[in-house]
Amino acid sequence: MINETKGKKMNHISTKTIAGLLLLGLSSLVSASPESDAKAFKKYFTDRFPDVPYNDYINGAYTIDKSGRENWEAIEEFPPYEPFIDEGRAMWEKPFKNGKTFKTACFPDGPAIKHKYPMWDKEKKMVMTLPLALNNCLKANGEKPMKYKKGPINNIMAYLAYEARGKKINVVIPKDEPGALAAYEEGKKFYFQRRGQLNFSCASCHMQNAGLKLRSEILSPALGHPSGFPVYRSKWGTVGTLHRRFTGCNKQVRAKAFKAHGPEYRNLEYFLTAMSNGLEWNGPSARK
Ligand code: HEC
Repeated sequence: MINETKGKKMNHISTKTIAGLLLLGLSSLVSASPESDAKAFKKYFTDRFPDVPYNDYINGAYTIDKSGRENWEAIEEFPPYEPFIDEGRAMWEKPFKNGKTFKTACFPDGPAIKHKYPMWDKEKKMVMTLPLALNNCLKANGEKPMKYKKGPINNIMAYLAYEARGKKINVVIPKDEPGALAAYEEGKKFYFQRRGQLNFSCASCHMQNAGLKLRSEILSPALGHPSGFPVYRSKWGTVGTLHRRFTGCNKQVRAKAFKAHGPEYRNLEYFLTAMSNGLEWNGPSARK
């Protein structure tokens, strides 16, 4: 369980406060390697919320939102994402028209494979995400690819996340692949770049203002962010993927959203997930 951080009250943030915080500048990560970035990233949060046990950062806003946490724990006892896992299992097992399955055609190590993504694809020279790999598999086998934000993708991702629960997040940025480091750096740049009419970066909300309230929501800490995905959100009334969330967060600041599993969000996922190396995968999960 979490202890409330002593002396730090949760406040509503007004636009004025945000402007004030932004004046302080982003605590940009100046370190040279992904490893030292991850260390600095972790330290940022452990210094900020010293009473939160490190392994608890896999629970989004409930890592630090004590009152919301009780309600959430009750929901997790009868998880709303359970039917999605079952549907996803059926998709995983159902043969394609050519008689092969996801496992026999493309993922011999499956279904516990979620923890291997995002990964650097040495042949394609790009970051490969699991939804993209699933769709590539479908296409290669004469099947129709899935839409990325809504529909069946959420079932199969819920199932695959469930199968990889408890595995460690371990994003590798291979040193002998200059493209991999460049993709990581792109993702990092994206994370700290301010955008939209509100001129916020991801870090403005999920680092600097983590733990504060934005309208009715406590802003979650970025550490551990990808762990619980896909998530069942009451607001969506369904399960949604990480890239759907990226889209929503971009739109929230009235910035342009990018294509799910296009280069921008793939690189962003690569960076963001690498920052959580060492924590556990804990998807799917429930959110407000
Ligand atoms: C204006 C503030 C704001 C900005 C900027 C913002 N977000 Fe969010 N984000 C939110 C809110 C509010 C939520 C829902 C509550 C929560 O979990 O923080 C959220 C949720 C998330 C979640 C889900 C966390 C979970 O465990 O359910 C992820 C991941 C995320 N944001 C990533 C990003 C990324 C990446 C960016 C930059 C592209 C970004 N956000 C920019 C406000 C913001």
